[in-house]
Amino acid sequence: MSARKTMVGNINEDVLSFTVGKDPQLDAVLLEWDCIGTAAHVSMLQHVPLATPLFTATDRDGVVSELLDIMRQGRQGRFRITRRDQDVHLAVERALTRKLGTLGKRVHTGRSRNDQVAVDLRLYAKNELLGLLSDVADLATALLGFARRHRAWPMVGRTHLQPGMPSTVDLWASAYAEGLLDDTITLRSAYVVNDRCPLGSAASYGVPLPIDRELSCKLLGFAEPIHNVLHAGQARGKCESVILNALSQVMLTLSRLSEDLILYAMPEFGYFKLPAEMCTGSSIMPQKKNPDVLELIRAKVARVLGDSVAVSGILKGLPGGYNRDLQEAKEPFLESLRTTRACVRIMRTMIDALKADRKALEAGFRPDVFAADRALELVAEGASFRDAYDQVRQTLDDLETRDSHAALGLRTHLGAGTGLDLGLLSGKTKDVRSFARLATKRYHNAIAKLMGVPYPELEA
Ligand code: ARG
Repeated sequence: MSARKTMVGNINEDVLSFTVGKDPQLDAVLLEWDCIGTAAHVSMLQHVPLATPLFTATDRDGVVSELLDIMRQGRQGRFRITRRDQDVHLAVERALTRKLGTLGKRVHTGRSRNDQVAVDLRLYAKNELLGLLSDVADLATALLGFARRHRAWPMVGRTHLQPGMPSTVDLWASAYAEGLLDDTITLRSAYVVNDRCPLGSAASYGVPLPIDRELSCKLLGFAEPIHNVLHAGQARGKCESVILNALSQVMLTLSRLSEDLILYAMPEFGYFKLPAEMCTGSSIMPQKKNPDVLELIRAKVARVLGDSVAVSGILKGLPGGYNRDLQEAKEPFLESLRTTRACVRIMRTMIDALKADRKALEAGFRPDVFAADRALELVAEGASFRDAYDQVRQTLDDLETRDSHAALGLRTHLGAGTGLDLGLLSGKTKDVRSFARLATKRYHNAIAKLMGVPYPELEA
């Protein structure tokens, strides 16, 4: 049986391959965060009151400077995580030890890979969630811009996809903008759950050293430490699951928007025109302009929902404390964060270039679209609604096409027709963007202070 020497014992080759899985590739995005987490840990260790200090200020600076070097190598694609390293954590420790000797061997004092990976994932997710919040705000802004460019343009309002009532393009577009704003509420709660520091919980049971968990937390810019160390360990996976749920909500909004666009851009409707450069052709049918982007978004929604189920499935029935099962939650989590951001961004490009066709929109207004309006007109003249409803129902053929503009002008109440306040929604969008901008600035400033270089630039 061939065994391979690793930093944590001699392991059978096949077992090593199987247990390492995709970590060497997946962990590439965590490299930077692992270095930042390690810098905070070492900076904290410098202050642990022991007779022989673990790190002097000079030691600490030496380690941080080496960590910065690793981060730069990572950005240039020059840092390799090997199967023998197993994961990013041992790869970084190996690199530090090769460069710094004993100093490198000290960095893992008072922590475990379990709190290390948990902190890496939270640091990464924090950055991505803030980026996503601002992407979502941008998409909502794009939809509100589309609404403004087509203010009061008539568009049949549908239920069951059947013509229902007179409505407008701006109502349609700003409905999705407000839907996305709702999704940012869920994203922001996920952000709050994520914004807590597990570092120092070690293997979930703390360590017999007077470490300062508040300090590591502060150095990393987290809102607060996770208090109970066992909970800090067990919150791994749960935090990912909460975030995946928030991502799923964004994706569900994109899914319906995609479906509407595919449908209303069909020649049979022709309400909207997808930008030609965002459609793809066919290898056999020369005329084709296919909405592949929207179809792929629709499919990726299923992937993100699946990832969310995969992670909760991994958590279900896990005993307390760390279990290696949690490693398997990494891929769906990282994948869905990437996918959701990519979908939100490409949708924004689509909306920015989307065109509407007023003639086609008006052509949708057949007389029966005004049936409910007619009934409510009779109500205004004194009839009870049910009597008016029956009367119109019995004389549907007498209905005439009305001026859609006039019909829309009669909708004056909150949230419809002339009562639709796009400025209100724009204001909320701005709030989301300022939250993301401010939180990112604070976060990056904390990292810059810790690492002693501007962040994210790394170079002065
Ligand atoms: N790559 C591992 C993971 O993602 C790191 C933690 C390993 N811990 C352990 N006790 N084997 O879970």
